[in-house]
Amino acid sequence: MSKVAIFASGAGSNADRILHFLNENQSSVKVALIVTNKKEAGIYQVAENHQLPIFYFSNQDFLEATPVLQFLQEQKIEWIVLAGFLRKIELPIVSAFENKVFNIHPSLLPKYGGKGMYGKKVHEAVIANGDRESGISIHLVNSEFDKGEIILQAKCIVEKGQTVEELVENIQKLEHEFFPKTLVQYINEIK
Ligand code: GAR
Repeated sequence: MSKVAIFASGAGSNADRILHFLNENQSSVKVALIVTNKKEAGIYQVAENHQLPIFYFSNQDFLEATPVLQFLQEQKIEWIVLAGFLRKIELPIVSAFENKVFNIHPSLLPKYGGKGMYGKKVHEAVIANGDRESGISIHLVNSEFDKGEIILQAKCIVEKGQTVEELVENIQKLEHEFFPKTLVQYINEIK
């Protein structure tokens, strides 16, 4: 069994899809708990729906990293999945979980990555630049924001005149389709 913690800051739709996927496929990959840096967010409802414990840590805790790292080690977590987690993962955690932290980013990295580039801001930039395609990147996390090894990218077309909301919808479809199965496949190959 591979013990996973999901980190999330928002609505939690990716976390929800991962949890459904693992259940439906009776996977040996097991999400033990959820970690968040928000006191209110959709992810709390996702945790409740899946009867999973959810733990709050402040942004300061994430910056210091040790409180979070100690907790993960006590809980015997082996893998971390960032599913819409909007803080940088600091070096102590990246080093302790080398090549064991996944992130999903809503663009074709290296385009539109880095500090301050998350969620809607990414899609606004894609549309403002007149790009004709966008997509998702599933990657390992290293000490540089959005620069770890890419495991999978999937693309969608950006139509002329498409709104940010329409692009978000297309990107989330890709995320929900590819993130759960890519994680499981990768973890099963490595362990
Ligand atoms: C997702 O689209 C994810 O790619 C993005 O946040 C959204 C979370 O949605 N992550 C980033 O921008 C990370 N830089 P969700 O809470 O519904 O899963």
